[in-house]
Amino acid sequence: MTQDELKALVGQAALKYVPQGEIVGVGTGSTVDKFIDALASMKDAIRGAVSSSSASTARLKALGIPVFDANDVDELAVYIDGADEIDNRGYMIKGGGAALTREKIVAAQSRRIVCIADESKLVGVLGRFPLPVEVIPMAAHRLMRQFAAMGGNAQLRMREGQPLLTDNGLQILDVTGLTLSEPLRFENEVNQWPGVVTVGVFAHQKAAVCLLGTSQGVRTMTF
Ligand code: A5P
Repeated sequence: MTQDELKALVGQAALKYVPQGEIVGVGTGSTVDKFIDALASMKDAIRGAVSSSSASTARLKALGIPVFDANDVDELAVYIDGADEIDNRGYMIKGGGAALTREKIVAAQSRRIVCIADESKLVGVLGRFPLPVEVIPMAAHRLMRQFAAMGGNAQLRMREGQPLLTDNGLQILDVTGLTLSEPLRFENEVNQWPGVVTVGVFAHQKAAVCLLGTSQGVRTMTF
């Protein structure tokens, strides 16, 4: 099976975690795009979605799924999202699509986080994928030096020769060279650096379930 087929497989499998009559939290990325496409088949059975990015919002709306503002709804039953890496404890790296801040907000608003991913995303220890960190632009260079002091190498994410701007109008640092064996401790530490808006380690908002697409089918991991 191709990676695209594995993503479609887990996108479809996630439907059984969507409770009827509820508003579902929806993440961002190519795997979530498959989930959104599958969700359209049950759009009359749900009230709608809270979205984590303008890209997912556009896709949901195009398929006729109502999108609610996060401030207009209370706790969500479930949040479905992809990951750049997930370990065997449910800790994740996210933000490859630059949507990490809104993803973490919707994840924090949800009782249960379900990760959908193809098997290439499962790792023993987080850190091979460059860690995304959304930052206030005036702090970018100082934060790059702080990551260097802990053994990392932070680069400003660029697009077409300019610093990439997130949906929040902020910048992304991508940090390589870190081994995140203690994700909770790392998230706690980096979160309190002035200028960091969101670090792409999802340890407090870790997955409760991972639907992993493998060539043998969907493997369900619970944490
Ligand atoms: C978006 O910012 C990310 O957190 C995505 O959830 C993550 O990059 C997974 O994306 P893919 O499903 O496209 O691999």
